[in-house]
Amino acid sequence: MYIFKDFYHNTVELSFEKHPFSPAPKHVWVICKYNDQWLLTDHQRRGYEFPGGKVEEGESPEEAAKREVLEETGGNVSKINYLGQYRVTGKDKIIIKNIYFAEIGELLTQKHYFETNGPVLLDEFPPNIKKDRRFSFIMRDEVFSQSLSYLNTKKSSL
Ligand code: GTP
Repeated sequence: MYIFKDFYHNTVELSFEKHPFSPAPKHVWVICKYNDQWLLTDHQRRGYEFPGGKVEEGESPEEAAKREVLEETGGNVSKINYLGQYRVTGKDKIIIKNIYFAEIGELLTQKHYFETNGPVLLDEFPPNIKKDRRFSFIMRDEVFSQSLSYLNTKKSSL
């Protein structure tokens, strides 16, 4: 379990165990790879981030993950795996998010990309991402760095 403060000084608890905080979280976040590139979205307010959002009524978290990827990037998920879960305790509410790793089979051009400007493909991340204002706050705390490290250790089994 990793515990740290995020960009807004909210407490974040992160774990790569199976559903440590909730079996049915209401939020999802999806680390996406398209061929050899990372696939992100350009959120209109927050900037570059991996796609994600809220689980809708009647949907499983994994279904929400696939839908959010398609809506925000046009990416069609060909393979998806659960990676971990985190809990953010804010002043007004607590949110719990599943983290997935998805491989994208094809990138479809969409008419609109919901609250985003659509897909962003990156070969690699800048080393100083924590200070890079092009990136969303959700990409600038330890959830991102720990998830990438974990992914590297798991790569061959995913
Ligand atoms: P929407 O505008 O519909 O997205 O609702 P909202 O602004 O209430 O956002 P949401 O319910 O998704 O999240 C509430 C708060 O939780 C946000 O304002 C953030 O402070 C925090 N939060 C949400 N997602 C993340 C995340 O991935 N990482 C961190 N550190 N905080 C998050």
